[in-house]
Amino acid sequence: MADDVLTFSSEMKGILSDEKLPVDKEPEVLSLRPRTLSDYIGQTGVVETLEIAIEAAKKREEPLDHVLFHGPPGLGKTTLSHIIANEMEKTLTLTSGPALEKGGDLIGILTHLSEGDVLFIDEIHRMPKAVEEFLYPAMEDFAVDFVFDKGMYARSHRYRLKQFTLVGATTRVGLLSAPLRDRFGIFRSLDFYSEKDLIKIVRRSAALLELEISDDGADALAGRSRGTPRIVNRLLKRVRDYAQVRADGVINAGTVGAALTLEGVDDIGLTNLDRRYLNIIIEYYQGGPVGIEAIAATLQEETDTLVDVVEPFLLKIGLLIRTSSGRKASPSAYQHLGLGESRKSK
Ligand code: ADE
Repeated sequence: MADDVLTFSSEMKGILSDEKLPVDKEPEVLSLRPRTLSDYIGQTGVVETLEIAIEAAKKREEPLDHVLFHGPPGLGKTTLSHIIANEMEKTLTLTSGPALEKGGDLIGILTHLSEGDVLFIDEIHRMPKAVEEFLYPAMEDFAVDFVFDKGMYARSHRYRLKQFTLVGATTRVGLLSAPLRDRFGIFRSLDFYSEKDLIKIVRRSAALLELEISDDGADALAGRSRGTPRIVNRLLKRVRDYAQVRADGVINAGTVGAALTLEGVDDIGLTNLDRRYLNIIIEYYQGGPVGIEAIAATLQEETDTLVDVVEPFLLKIGLLIRTSSGRKASPSAYQHLGLGESRKSK
């Protein structure tokens, strides 16, 4: 089996790896995740689709259809896969496209699944083509085809799998091949959360962490979290530290403002990287249009990071415009950064 695989039984609370984890995967932040659909805040259309599909599958005593989630990082794709397994009362196995290097990695995982189990493949668009081809019969017929020997001696043997549910997650649905995309019965895009929903999420998290948070503190955190639950929970922890060390422990607009300014998060939630990205377009490329590769090279950042992490929110709030000839900074981007529009190309 591939190294990067985690298996969760439906009642398991913690995580099974003791390696150093990014902050949003720390047990404390993971424990903030809702475990049932009824605890899930926001994405109401997606939640309703899943409620209906899960109840129907359980009534028929069948596994749930394969599910594909699309959307920027941090909006709940992994959380929903945990919830699906939990609601179906089955075991969840997690892996990712880049971790599945060879067909054998995937076959190892598939042959260990029990009836109705859920397999989550994160970044499914980064799965090698050779591995993807094993997935087609697995998804459609619950079988894998082994090929023994080569050339004229080649023989194929079909190995039956237990019926399982594949949950795929991707930030780039356009990079998925049509045959793979078409094999998912349920396909839903996750959108950025409204401030109202983020306020509810941060209040829920503060209660779970036993923190005191004022109304203006919850509003300020929600307003600076780029529409993303993972960010609101991460920032909550930074503000908690600040409030405990530099104030009386209470999270309010004052402590949020001071702590997030230290973190480089501005009043609309932009990070240093967001501002550097917009600055490059305006200062180096006269406001654009400019190609993403040129921006990435000037910033010395990966193109994928910019496309997956930075751009979706800037597009959403209208600071960035994508045209057929490249990216452009919008008039509100000049305004937000306090830069004169005289820098614009004529
Ligand atoms: N924590 C992170 N995302 C959440 C959500 N959508 N609902 C409730 N709590 C969350």
